Amino acid sequence: MERELVLVLDFGGQYNQLIARRVRECNVYCEVHPCTLPVDRIKQMRPKGIIFTGGPNSVYGEEAPRCPVEMFALGIPILGICYGSQLMAYMLGGSVSTAPVSEYGKTEVEVDTASRLFEGVTEKTVCWMSHTDYIETAPAEFVVTARTPVCPVAAMEFAKKNLYAVQFHPEVMHTQQGMQMLSNFVRNICGCKGDWKMDSFVETAIHQIREQVGDGKVLCALSGGVDSSVAAVLLSKAVGRQLTCVFVDHGLLRKNEGDEVEAVFGPKGQYDLNFVRVNAQERFYKKLAGVEEPEAKRKIIGEEFIRVFEEEAKKIGSVDFLVQGTIYPDVIESGLGKSAVIKSHHNVGGLPDCVDFKEIIEPLRLLFKDEVRKAGLELGIPKHLVFRQPFPGPGLGVRIVGEVTADKVRMVQDADAIYREELVRAGCDEGLGQYFAALTNMRSVGVMGDERTYDYAVALRAVVTSDFMTAEAAQIPFAVLSKVMNRVINEVKGVNRVLYDLTSKPPGTIEFE
Ligand code: XMP
Repeated sequence: MERELVLVLDFGGQYNQLIARRVRECNVYCEVHPCTLPVDRIKQMRPKGIIFTGGPNSVYGEEAPRCPVEMFALGIPILGICYGSQLMAYMLGGSVSTAPVSEYGKTEVEVDTASRLFEGVTEKTVCWMSHTDYIETAPAEFVVTARTPVCPVAAMEFAKKNLYAVQFHPEVMHTQQGMQMLSNFVRNICGCKGDWKMDSFVETAIHQIREQVGDGKVLCALSGGVDSSVAAVLLSKAVGRQLTCVFVDHGLLRKNEGDEVEAVFGPKGQYDLNFVRVNAQERFYKKLAGVEEPEAKRKIIGEEFIRVFEEEAKKIGSVDFLVQGTIYPDVIESGLGKSAVIKSHHNVGGLPDCVDFKEIIEPLRLLFKDEVRKAGLELGIPKHLVFRQPFPGPGLGVRIVGEVTADKVRMVQDADAIYREELVRAGCDEGLGQYFAALTNMRSVGVMGDERTYDYAVALRAVVTSDFMTAEAAQIPFAVLSKVMNRVINEVKGVNRVLYDLTSKPPGTIEFE
């Protein structure tokens, strides 16, 4: 049976993968391709529908990406979004010009509910606008199906030819009924049944990996985090013992984490792969001795990680492929996609290129975090690994303010384990983006059992966040915090004070360094 496919043609917008993801949410397989994809190739792919994305250009610009006009005559339904809508108008004889006022943000749009695109949508609906140019007049055979006071053609269509265009972005959450519109397009207009599921992703990925790898050897740097775990299991299902996972325990992991990772992926675990655990704690502590500056610590940890990994790769020898658990937000944040660079990320490109790999395999490159988690569950990875909190690559190295020592690692590990245990016990962990204990560099005087103490202060952090770019301190009940304080001070030697961090991000960051 042929798999239903919707193609997203990328005209350089920020939300291209988000569109693909929304289509997948309609249970339809979706791929993003450059807008230069030749028409012949499109015909071969036999998509049920095509979506033109937004983009930063004006259709009149010299550099403006175009598509061949025959695209509109293929008989395949097309939905143009933002720039994509303007391009459709421009190429089919409408006019596009600079809007008298740029519309940006949530905007009330009046839609024609008789349109198949707006079936089930209310007549007035809030949509996300972000444009300077707009369609001034629709091409001759098109009818206008939505408008705002500023935008005379907020949507248009030529229903007989299945050509649809919207000036706003149905794919972003701020467009309140955007999912309904996309579902209308994919299901009703393109006629997709919607029988694609995450297990189909897993199956397809396994098949593609087998083709790519052949009988080559594959190496995976496994951190125990969600992304690298899912990538490793996918590879193990695809190529079994051709895969070796190298897990570097840098001594900066959470309490018992090394053993937990080994229990799942090691020889007693459930997967058929080669697993190498490198206990490099002492090596990292030595390198970090006397170093206080956060960036210097990060660099040392990153570099040492690469050295250890390289050494192991050389021991294994003639490895053809390196697996990376890169997921879509990493690609975008690092500017490896085509949209504007947001920040450089620590996971991507962090592994050595001096060990000779023929190719990098990034099977999760097009997935968002929650999709990776779904794939993880599909692959039978234990829930506690799949729903793990994010944990920074440099680990506790950035949760110990100042110099890192083995003793400080013990303190922060123990305090963190108590804090996590109590939050879960009290049922306060749900809805938290991240929560952990950090060790401050502050020592202060206390009294315990009539004795003077001069010990460290632990800081507890818990944040609510949806994207980790901004965050608010969570309101943990005082009684829970008090219990944690009591236990930490009684159970963790070297700590005599517990503080709760109220700082939001910005101005703070989530981690301490
Ligand atoms: P910040 O501290 O920048 O953290 O507010 C935002 C999110 O990123 C995680 N983080 C890292 N993740 N390598 C990573 O893989 C790193 O070096 C790193 N630093 C911060 C942090 O835990 C939070 O989820």
